[in-house]
Amino acid sequence: MSSVRSDIADIKLAPKGKLRIEWAGNSMPVLDLIRRRFEKEKPFKGLRVSACLHVTCETANLAITLKAGGADVALVASNPLSTQDDVAASLVKDSGIKVLAIKGENHKSYYSHIYAALQHEPHLTMDDGADVVSAIHKQPEKFMKNIIGGTEETTTGVIRLRSLEAQRKLLYPIVAVNDADTKHFFDNRYGTGQSTLDGVIRATNVLIAGSTVVVAGYGWCGRGVAMRAKGLGANVIVTEIDPLRALEAVMDGYQVMPMKEAVKQADIYVTVTGNKSVLRKEHFLAMKDRAIVSNSGHFDVEIDVAELRKMAKKVRPMRDFVQEYTLSNNKRIYLLAEGRLVNLGAAEGHPAMVMDMSFANQALASEWVVRHHKSLEKKVYRVPMDIDKEIARIKLLSMNVDIDKLSKEQEKYLAAWEVGT
Ligand code: NAD
Ligand code: ADE
Repeated sequence: MSSVRSDIADIKLAPKGKLRIEWAGNSMPVLDLIRRRFEKEKPFKGLRVSACLHVTCETANLAITLKAGGADVALVASNPLSTQDDVAASLVKDSGIKVLAIKGENHKSYYSHIYAALQHEPHLTMDDGADVVSAIHKQPEKFMKNIIGGTEETTTGVIRLRSLEAQRKLLYPIVAVNDADTKHFFDNRYGTGQSTLDGVIRATNVLIAGSTVVVAGYGWCGRGVAMRAKGLGANVIVTEIDPLRALEAVMDGYQVMPMKEAVKQADIYVTVTGNKSVLRKEHFLAMKDRAIVSNSGHFDVEIDVAELRKMAKKVRPMRDFVQEYTLSNNKRIYLLAEGRLVNLGAAEGHPAMVMDMSFANQALASEWVVRHHKSLEKKVYRVPMDIDKEIARIKLLSMNVDIDKLSKEQEKYLAAWEVGT
Protein backbone atom coordinates (compact mmCIF):
# COMPACT_ATOMS: atom_id res chain seq x y z
CA MET A 1 0.00 0.00 0.00
CA SER A 2 1.36 3.43 -0.91
CA SER A 3 0.73 6.47 1.26
CA VAL A 4 -0.69 8.56 -1.61
CA ARG A 5 -4.01 10.20 -0.77
CA SER A 6 -6.73 11.30 -3.14
CA ASP A 7 -7.20 14.98 -3.94
CA ILE A 8 -10.45 15.70 -5.78
CA ALA A 9 -12.98 18.53 -6.07
CA ASP A 10 -15.99 17.14 -4.21
CA ILE A 11 -16.73 13.59 -3.02
CA LYS A 12 -20.46 14.41 -2.97
CA LEU A 13 -20.45 14.29 -6.79
CA ALA A 14 -19.86 10.51 -6.65
CA PRO A 15 -23.47 9.33 -7.34
CA LYS A 16 -23.61 11.26 -10.64
CA GLY A 17 -20.15 10.02 -11.59
CA LYS A 18 -21.09 6.41 -10.81
CA LEU A 19 -24.00 6.52 -13.27
CA ARG A 20 -21.88 8.18 -15.96
CA ILE A 21 -19.18 5.51 -15.54
CA GLU A 22 -21.83 2.78 -15.88
CA TRP A 23 -23.27 4.54 -18.97
CA ALA A 24 -19.83 4.65 -20.64
CA GLY A 25 -19.15 1.04 -19.63
CA ASN A 26 -22.23 -0.04 -21.59
CA SER A 27 -20.40 1.00 -24.77
CA MET A 28 -17.09 -0.66 -23.86
CA PRO A 29 -17.64 -4.38 -24.52
CA VAL A 30 -14.02 -5.20 -25.35
CA LEU A 31 -12.75 -3.70 -22.10
CA ASP A 32 -15.56 -5.48 -20.26
CA LEU A 33 -14.41 -8.84 -21.59
CA ILE A 34 -10.83 -8.05 -20.53
CA ARG A 35 -12.01 -6.98 -17.06
CA ARG A 36 -13.83 -10.26 -16.55
CA ARG A 37 -10.71 -12.24 -17.48
CA PHE A 38 -8.48 -10.02 -15.30
CA GLU A 39 -10.81 -10.65 -12.34
CA LYS A 40 -9.98 -14.37 -12.59
CA GLU A 41 -6.31 -14.21 -13.63
CA LYS A 42 -5.09 -11.16 -11.63
CA PRO A 43 -2.19 -10.29 -13.98
CA PHE A 44 -1.28 -7.19 -11.92
CA LYS A 45 -1.36 -8.81 -8.49
CA GLY A 46 1.03 -6.96 -6.18
CA LEU A 47 1.78 -4.25 -8.77
CA ARG A 48 1.29 -0.51 -8.48
CA VAL A 49 0.24 1.51 -11.53
CA SER A 50 0.58 5.28 -11.83
CA ALA A 51 -1.74 6.45 -14.59
CA CYS A 52 -1.71 9.99 -15.97
CA LEU A 53 -4.75 10.11 -18.26
CA HIS A 54 -7.72 12.38 -18.90
CA VAL A 55 -9.98 11.60 -15.92
CA THR A 56 -13.18 10.77 -17.79
CA CYS A 57 -15.84 8.11 -17.41
CA GLU A 58 -14.06 6.04 -20.08
CA THR A 59 -10.77 6.24 -18.18
CA ALA A 60 -12.67 5.23 -15.05
CA ASN A 61 -13.63 1.97 -16.76
CA LEU A 62 -9.96 1.35 -17.56
CA ALA A 63 -8.89 2.08 -13.97
CA ILE A 64 -11.57 -0.30 -12.68
CA THR A 65 -10.33 -2.96 -15.14
CA LEU A 66 -6.74 -2.62 -13.91
CA LYS A 67 -7.91 -2.83 -10.32
CA ALA A 68 -9.93 -5.96 -11.16
CA GLY A 69 -6.63 -7.40 -12.40
CA GLY A 70 -5.05 -6.83 -8.99
CA ALA A 71 -3.36 -3.45 -9.60
CA ASP A 72 -3.12 -0.73 -6.97
CA VAL A 73 -3.91 2.29 -9.17
CA ALA A 74 -3.15 5.98 -8.62
CA LEU A 75 -4.77 8.16 -11.28
CA VAL A 76 -3.83 11.77 -12.04
CA ALA A 77 -4.96 14.11 -14.82
CA SER A 78 -3.05 14.45 -18.08
CA ASN A 79 -4.50 17.92 -18.63
CA PRO A 80 -5.61 20.58 -16.11
CA LEU A 81 -8.96 21.07 -17.85
CA SER A 82 -10.06 17.58 -18.84
CA THR A 83 -11.02 16.12 -15.44
CA GLN A 84 -14.64 15.16 -14.87
CA ASP A 85 -15.01 15.87 -11.14
CA ASP A 86 -18.00 13.56 -10.66
CA VAL A 87 -16.05 10.67 -12.16
CA ALA A 88 -13.04 11.38 -9.94
CA ALA A 89 -15.37 11.36 -6.91
CA SER A 90 -16.96 8.04 -7.82
CA LEU A 91 -13.62 6.35 -8.46
CA VAL A 92 -12.51 7.31 -4.95
CA LYS A 93 -15.79 6.51 -3.20
CA ASP A 94 -17.14 3.52 -5.09
CA SER A 95 -14.01 1.85 -6.46
CA GLY A 96 -11.34 2.63 -3.86
CA ILE A 97 -9.02 4.07 -6.50
CA LYS A 98 -6.67 6.93 -5.58
CA VAL A 99 -7.40 9.96 -7.74
CA LEU A 100 -5.57 13.27 -7.68
CA ALA A 101 -7.26 15.53 -10.25
CA ILE A 102 -9.47 18.61 -10.21
CA LYS A 103 -11.03 20.28 -13.27
CA GLY A 104 -9.42 23.70 -13.80
CA GLU A 105 -6.45 23.04 -11.48
CA ASN A 106 -3.46 25.33 -11.90
CA HIS A 107 0.04 24.41 -13.05
CA LYS A 108 1.30 23.95 -9.48
CA SER A 109 -1.55 21.63 -8.51
CA TYR A 110 -1.20 19.69 -11.80
CA TYR A 111 2.49 18.98 -11.15
CA SER A 112 2.02 18.28 -7.45
CA HIS A 113 -0.39 15.53 -8.55
CA ILE A 114 2.10 14.15 -11.09
CA TYR A 115 4.76 13.93 -8.37
CA ALA A 116 2.27 12.37 -5.96
CA ALA A 117 1.63 9.68 -8.59
CA LEU A 118 5.36 8.96 -8.48
CA GLN A 119 5.32 8.75 -4.69
CA HIS A 120 2.98 5.83 -5.37
CA GLU A 121 6.27 4.07 -6.35
CA PRO A 122 4.81 2.48 -9.48
CA HIS A 123 5.87 -0.72 -11.20
CA LEU A 124 4.03 0.44 -14.34
CA THR A 125 3.39 3.91 -15.76
CA MET A 126 0.54 4.80 -18.07
CA ASP A 127 0.82 8.20 -19.75
CA ASP A 128 -1.18 10.40 -22.11
CA GLY A 129 1.40 12.94 -23.27
CA ALA A 130 4.47 11.60 -21.39
CA ASP A 131 4.38 14.03 -18.46
CA VAL A 132 4.96 11.22 -15.94
CA VAL A 133 7.76 9.70 -18.01
CA SER A 134 9.34 13.13 -18.37
CA ALA A 135 9.21 13.71 -14.58
CA ILE A 136 10.79 10.27 -13.99
CA HIS A 137 13.60 10.96 -16.45
CA LYS A 138 14.41 14.27 -14.74
CA GLN A 139 15.00 12.50 -11.37
CA PRO A 140 15.53 8.81 -12.14
CA GLU A 141 17.44 8.13 -8.92
CA LYS A 142 14.27 9.06 -7.04
CA PHE A 143 11.56 7.44 -9.14
CA MET A 144 12.96 4.48 -11.10
CA LYS A 145 13.11 2.09 -8.13
CA ASN A 146 10.33 -0.34 -9.06
CA ILE A 147 9.52 0.50 -12.66
CA ILE A 148 9.39 -2.41 -15.13
CA GLY A 149 7.59 -0.73 -18.03
CA GLY A 150 4.91 1.62 -19.25
CA THR A 151 2.46 2.61 -21.95
CA GLU A 152 1.76 5.84 -23.85
CA GLU A 153 -1.61 6.87 -25.22
CA THR A 154 -1.07 9.74 -27.67
CA THR A 155 0.92 10.93 -30.70
CA THR A 156 2.66 13.78 -28.85
CA GLY A 157 3.66 11.44 -26.00
CA VAL A 158 5.12 8.92 -28.48
CA ILE A 159 7.12 11.74 -30.13
CA ARG A 160 8.62 12.63 -26.72
CA LEU A 161 9.45 8.97 -26.04
CA ARG A 162 11.10 8.52 -29.43
CA SER A 163 13.18 11.61 -28.70
CA LEU A 164 14.37 10.01 -25.43
CA GLU A 165 15.03 6.74 -27.27
CA ALA A 166 16.98 8.48 -30.06
CA GLN A 167 19.19 10.17 -27.46
CA ARG A 168 19.65 6.75 -25.76
CA LYS A 169 18.14 8.18 -22.60
CA LEU A 170 14.99 6.08 -22.34
CA LEU A 171 15.21 4.22 -19.04
CA TYR A 172 12.59 1.52 -19.45
CA PRO A 173 10.43 -0.19 -22.11
CA ILE A 174 7.27 1.65 -23.10
CA VAL A 175 4.52 0.49 -25.44
CA ALA A 176 3.27 3.12 -27.90
CA VAL A 177 -0.45 2.38 -27.62
CA ASN A 178 -1.15 5.29 -29.98
CA ASP A 179 0.55 3.43 -32.82
CA ALA A 180 -1.78 0.42 -32.67
CA ASP A 181 -4.10 0.38 -35.67
CA THR A 182 -7.10 -0.14 -33.38
CA LYS A 183 -6.09 3.09 -31.63
CA HIS A 184 -5.13 5.85 -34.05
CA PHE A 185 -7.29 4.72 -37.00
CA PHE A 186 -10.36 5.14 -34.79
CA ASP A 187 -9.68 7.25 -31.68
CA ASN A 188 -7.58 9.93 -33.40
CA ARG A 189 -9.76 10.05 -36.51
CA TYR A 190 -13.39 9.35 -35.56
CA GLY A 191 -13.03 10.20 -31.86
CA THR A 192 -11.25 13.52 -32.31
CA GLY A 193 -13.37 14.27 -35.38
CA GLN A 194 -16.65 14.04 -33.50
CA SER A 195 -15.63 15.26 -30.05
CA THR A 196 -13.78 18.32 -31.37
CA LEU A 197 -16.84 19.54 -33.26
CA ASP A 198 -18.85 18.68 -30.15
CA GLY A 199 -16.53 20.89 -28.05
CA VAL A 200 -16.73 23.82 -30.48
CA ILE A 201 -20.52 23.55 -30.67
CA ARG A 202 -21.10 23.13 -26.91
CA ALA A 203 -18.87 26.13 -26.16
CA THR A 204 -20.36 28.46 -28.78
CA ASN A 205 -23.62 27.00 -30.16
CA VAL A 206 -22.38 28.30 -33.51
CA LEU A 207 -23.90 27.04 -36.78
CA ILE A 208 -21.27 25.06 -38.65
CA ALA A 209 -23.24 24.94 -41.93
CA GLY A 210 -22.05 27.65 -44.28
CA SER A 211 -19.10 28.62 -42.07
CA THR A 212 -15.48 28.40 -43.14
CA VAL A 213 -13.48 26.09 -40.88
CA VAL A 214 -9.69 25.92 -40.97
CA VAL A 215 -8.16 22.62 -39.86
CA ALA A 216 -4.43 22.95 -39.20
CA GLY A 217 -2.76 19.56 -39.64
CA TYR A 218 -4.12 16.75 -41.81
CA GLY A 219 -2.87 13.80 -39.78
CA TRP A 220 -5.11 11.21 -38.12
CA CYS A 221 -6.94 13.80 -36.02
CA GLY A 222 -7.08 16.46 -38.73
CA ARG A 223 -8.66 14.05 -41.21
CA GLY A 224 -11.41 13.32 -38.70
CA VAL A 225 -12.05 16.97 -37.81
CA ALA A 226 -12.14 18.02 -41.49
CA MET A 227 -14.48 15.14 -42.35
CA ARG A 228 -16.95 15.98 -39.59
CA ALA A 229 -16.85 19.75 -40.26
CA LYS A 230 -17.56 19.06 -43.93
CA GLY A 231 -20.38 16.71 -42.94
CA LEU A 232 -22.02 19.53 -40.98
CA GLY A 233 -21.88 21.79 -44.03
CA ALA A 234 -18.71 23.81 -43.48
CA ASN A 235 -16.35 24.97 -46.20
CA VAL A 236 -13.15 23.36 -44.99
CA ILE A 237 -9.64 24.72 -45.53
CA VAL A 238 -6.67 22.54 -44.55
CA THR A 239 -3.21 23.87 -43.72
CA GLU A 240 -0.21 21.52 -43.73
CA ILE A 241 3.58 21.48 -43.84
CA ASP A 242 3.89 17.95 -45.28
CA PRO A 243 3.40 17.74 -49.07
CA LEU A 244 1.98 14.19 -48.94
CA ARG A 245 -0.64 15.04 -46.34
CA ALA A 246 -1.46 18.27 -48.20
CA LEU A 247 -1.92 16.33 -51.45
CA GLU A 248 -4.21 13.88 -49.68
CA ALA A 249 -6.31 16.78 -48.37
CA VAL A 250 -6.57 18.26 -51.87
CA MET A 251 -7.76 14.92 -53.28
CA ASP A 252 -10.19 14.51 -50.38
CA GLY A 253 -11.81 17.67 -51.70
CA TYR A 254 -10.54 20.39 -49.36
CA GLN A 255 -8.95 23.73 -50.15
CA VAL A 256 -5.31 23.73 -49.07
CA MET A 257 -3.34 26.93 -48.54
CA PRO A 258 -0.87 28.53 -46.11
CA MET A 259 -2.32 29.83 -42.85
CA LYS A 260 -1.56 33.43 -43.84
CA GLU A 261 -4.04 33.01 -46.73
CA ALA A 262 -6.58 30.97 -44.74
CA VAL A 263 -6.93 33.67 -42.06
CA LYS A 264 -8.56 35.99 -44.60
CA GLN A 265 -11.52 33.62 -44.94
CA ALA A 266 -11.94 31.59 -41.77
CA ASP A 267 -14.71 31.82 -39.18
CA ILE A 268 -13.56 28.87 -37.04
CA TYR A 269 -10.08 27.41 -36.43
CA VAL A 270 -9.05 24.02 -35.09
CA THR A 271 -5.36 23.20 -34.66
CA VAL A 272 -4.40 19.50 -34.49
CA THR A 273 -0.74 19.42 -35.45
CA GLY A 274 1.11 18.46 -32.26
CA ASN A 275 3.29 21.48 -33.12
CA LYS A 276 3.75 24.90 -31.50
CA SER A 277 2.76 28.45 -32.56
CA VAL A 278 0.66 27.29 -35.48
CA LEU A 279 -1.58 30.31 -34.82
CA ARG A 280 0.49 33.32 -33.80
CA LYS A 281 0.66 37.11 -33.77
CA GLU A 282 0.67 37.67 -37.55
CA HIS A 283 -2.38 35.39 -37.88
CA PHE A 284 -4.35 36.97 -35.01
CA LEU A 285 -3.85 40.39 -36.58
CA ALA A 286 -5.19 39.24 -39.95
CA MET A 287 -8.20 37.25 -38.67
CA LYS A 288 -11.78 38.28 -39.36
CA ASP A 289 -13.70 39.96 -36.55
CA ARG A 290 -15.25 37.39 -34.16
CA ALA A 291 -13.06 34.49 -35.28
CA ILE A 292 -13.48 31.36 -33.13
CA VAL A 293 -10.13 29.81 -32.30
CA SER A 294 -9.63 26.35 -30.79
CA ASN A 295 -7.09 23.58 -30.42
CA SER A 296 -7.48 19.81 -30.20
CA GLY A 297 -3.78 18.90 -30.21
CA HIS A 298 -2.34 17.50 -27.00
CA PHE A 299 -0.60 20.56 -25.52
CA ASP A 300 -1.79 24.16 -25.32
CA VAL A 301 1.14 25.33 -27.45
CA GLU A 302 -0.50 25.28 -30.87
CA ILE A 303 -2.16 28.67 -30.35
CA ASP A 304 0.22 31.31 -28.98
CA VAL A 305 -2.10 32.27 -26.13
CA ALA A 306 0.57 34.26 -24.26
CA GLU A 307 1.02 36.48 -27.33
CA LEU A 308 -2.74 36.83 -27.78
CA ARG A 309 -3.00 37.96 -24.15
CA LYS A 310 -0.23 40.52 -24.71
CA MET A 311 -1.88 41.85 -27.86
CA ALA A 312 -5.33 42.23 -26.32
CA LYS A 313 -6.52 45.61 -25.05
CA LYS A 314 -9.48 43.91 -23.39
CA VAL A 315 -10.22 40.35 -22.26
CA ARG A 316 -13.51 39.13 -20.89
CA PRO A 317 -15.17 35.77 -20.30
CA MET A 318 -18.07 35.49 -22.74
CA ARG A 319 -19.54 32.04 -21.98
CA ASP A 320 -18.26 28.89 -20.30
CA PHE A 321 -14.98 28.02 -22.04
CA VAL A 322 -15.14 31.10 -24.31
CA GLN A 323 -12.81 34.07 -23.69
CA GLU A 324 -13.16 37.21 -25.78
CA TYR A 325 -9.92 39.00 -26.74
CA THR A 326 -10.31 42.47 -28.27
CA LEU A 327 -7.23 43.52 -30.21
CA SER A 328 -5.99 47.08 -30.81
CA ASN A 329 -7.50 46.91 -34.34
CA ASN A 330 -10.85 46.38 -32.52
CA LYS A 331 -11.27 42.89 -33.92
CA ARG A 332 -12.48 40.26 -31.48
CA ILE A 333 -11.09 36.75 -31.18
CA TYR A 334 -12.96 34.06 -29.25
CA LEU A 335 -10.57 31.56 -27.70
CA LEU A 336 -12.12 28.26 -26.61
CA ALA A 337 -11.06 26.23 -23.56
CA GLU A 338 -7.97 28.41 -22.96
CA GLY A 339 -6.35 26.88 -26.05
CA ARG A 340 -6.33 23.45 -24.37
CA LEU A 341 -7.87 20.40 -26.06
CA VAL A 342 -11.35 21.70 -26.84
CA ASN A 343 -12.93 18.25 -27.01
CA LEU A 344 -12.01 17.45 -23.40
CA GLY A 345 -12.13 20.98 -22.00
CA ALA A 346 -15.49 22.09 -23.40
CA ALA A 347 -17.06 18.67 -24.05
CA GLU A 348 -16.63 15.12 -22.73
CA GLY A 349 -13.85 13.80 -24.97
CA HIS A 350 -14.27 10.86 -27.31
CA PRO A 351 -17.32 8.63 -26.96
CA ALA A 352 -16.90 5.39 -25.00
CA MET A 353 -17.52 3.31 -28.14
CA VAL A 354 -14.15 4.38 -29.55
CA MET A 355 -12.26 4.65 -26.23
CA ASP A 356 -13.17 0.97 -25.77
CA MET A 357 -10.48 0.05 -28.30
CA SER A 358 -7.88 2.57 -27.05
CA PHE A 359 -8.24 1.34 -23.49
CA ALA A 360 -8.39 -2.34 -24.46
CA ASN A 361 -4.95 -1.64 -25.96
CA GLN A 362 -3.83 0.02 -22.72
CA ALA A 363 -4.99 -2.92 -20.61
CA LEU A 364 -3.55 -5.63 -22.86
CA ALA A 365 -0.30 -3.75 -23.53
CA SER A 366 0.24 -3.39 -19.77
CA GLU A 367 -0.39 -7.10 -19.27
CA TRP A 368 2.09 -7.82 -22.11
CA VAL A 369 4.74 -5.66 -20.42
CA VAL A 370 4.25 -7.51 -17.12
CA ARG A 371 4.58 -10.89 -18.90
CA HIS A 372 7.62 -9.96 -21.00
CA HIS A 373 9.46 -7.23 -19.09
CA LYS A 374 12.48 -9.41 -18.29
CA SER A 375 13.29 -9.77 -21.98
CA LEU A 376 12.37 -6.22 -23.06
CA GLU A 377 14.94 -3.53 -23.84
CA LYS A 378 14.83 0.17 -23.01
CA LYS A 379 12.91 0.86 -26.20
CA VAL A 380 9.60 2.12 -27.53
CA TYR A 381 7.55 -0.95 -28.52
CA ARG A 382 4.58 -1.34 -30.79
CA VAL A 383 1.46 -3.09 -29.47
CA PRO A 384 1.96 -6.70 -30.70
CA MET A 385 0.00 -7.27 -33.91
CA ASP A 386 -1.90 -10.25 -32.46
CA ILE A 387 -3.30 -8.00 -29.69
CA ASP A 388 -4.21 -5.27 -32.20
CA LYS A 389 -6.01 -7.77 -34.48
CA GLU A 390 -7.77 -9.49 -31.57
CA ILE A 391 -9.19 -6.14 -30.39
CA ALA A 392 -10.55 -5.49 -33.90
CA ARG A 393 -12.03 -9.00 -34.00
CA ILE A 394 -13.82 -8.67 -30.66
CA LYS A 395 -15.00 -5.15 -31.48
CA LEU A 396 -16.59 -6.38 -34.73
CA LEU A 397 -18.18 -9.28 -32.87
CA SER A 398 -19.67 -6.85 -30.32
CA MET A 399 -21.14 -4.85 -33.21
CA ASN A 400 -22.67 -8.00 -34.74
CA VAL A 401 -20.55 -7.59 -37.86
CA ASP A 402 -19.39 -10.79 -39.52
CA ILE A 403 -16.69 -10.94 -42.21
CA ASP A 404 -15.52 -13.45 -44.82
CA LYS A 405 -12.75 -15.97 -44.27
CA LEU A 406 -9.99 -16.87 -46.73
CA SER A 407 -10.51 -20.21 -48.43
CA LYS A 408 -7.53 -22.60 -48.59
CA GLU A 409 -7.30 -21.84 -52.32
CA GLN A 410 -7.21 -18.08 -51.66
CA GLU A 411 -4.56 -18.48 -48.95
CA LYS A 412 -2.41 -20.44 -51.38
CA TYR A 413 -2.94 -17.86 -54.15
CA LEU A 414 -1.96 -14.95 -51.88
CA ALA A 415 1.24 -16.76 -50.87
CA ALA A 416 2.27 -17.64 -54.44
CA TRP A 417 4.34 -15.84 -57.07
CA GLU A 418 3.90 -18.24 -59.99
CA VAL A 419 0.38 -17.36 -61.18
CA GLY A 420 0.10 -14.19 -63.30
CA THR A 421 -1.77 -13.08 -66.43
P1 NAD B 1 -0.27 13.21 -36.93
O1 NAD B 1 1.22 13.14 -36.82
O2 NAD B 1 -0.99 12.10 -37.61
O3 NAD B 1 -0.69 14.58 -37.65
C1 NAD B 1 -0.17 15.82 -37.38
C2 NAD B 1 -0.13 16.60 -38.70
O4 NAD B 1 0.16 17.96 -38.44
C3 NAD B 1 0.94 16.08 -39.66
O5 NAD B 1 0.36 15.76 -40.91
C4 NAD B 1 1.93 17.23 -39.76
O6 NAD B 1 2.54 17.33 -41.03
C5 NAD B 1 1.03 18.42 -39.47
N1 NAD B 1 1.74 19.63 -39.01
C6 NAD B 1 2.82 19.74 -38.20
N2 NAD B 1 3.16 21.03 -38.03
C7 NAD B 1 2.27 21.76 -38.74
C8 NAD B 1 2.07 23.16 -38.95
N3 NAD B 1 2.91 24.07 -38.43
N4 NAD B 1 1.03 23.55 -39.74
C9 NAD B 1 0.20 22.64 -40.31
N5 NAD B 1 0.34 21.31 -40.14
C10 NAD B 1 1.35 20.87 -39.35
O7 NAD B 1 -0.80 13.39 -35.44
P2 NAD B 1 -2.29 13.11 -34.88
O8 NAD B 1 -2.39 11.69 -34.45
O9 NAD B 1 -3.26 13.68 -35.83
O10 NAD B 1 -2.24 14.01 -33.54
C11 NAD B 1 -2.21 15.42 -33.58
C12 NAD B 1 -2.24 15.98 -32.17
O11 NAD B 1 -3.48 15.64 -31.56
C13 NAD B 1 -1.17 15.42 -31.24
O12 NAD B 1 -0.78 16.42 -30.33
C14 NAD B 1 -1.90 14.31 -30.50
O13 NAD B 1 -1.27 13.96 -29.31
C15 NAD B 1 -3.25 14.95 -30.32
N6 NAD B 1 -4.42 14.08 -30.08
C16 NAD B 1 -5.46 14.69 -29.46
C17 NAD B 1 -6.60 13.94 -29.21
C18 NAD B 1 -7.75 14.61 -28.52
O14 NAD B 1 -8.51 13.91 -27.84
N7 NAD B 1 -7.94 15.90 -28.69
C19 NAD B 1 -6.68 12.59 -29.58
C20 NAD B 1 -5.59 12.02 -30.24
C21 NAD B 1 -4.45 12.78 -30.50
N1 ADE C 1 -8.94 11.22 -24.98
C1 ADE C 1 -9.89 11.65 -25.83
N2 ADE C 1 -11.12 11.36 -25.36
C2 ADE C 1 -10.95 10.73 -24.18
C3 ADE C 1 -11.85 10.18 -23.24
N3 ADE C 1 -13.18 10.22 -23.42
N4 ADE C 1 -11.32 9.61 -22.15
C4 ADE C 1 -9.98 9.57 -21.97
N5 ADE C 1 -9.09 10.05 -22.81
C5 ADE C 1 -9.56 10.63 -23.93
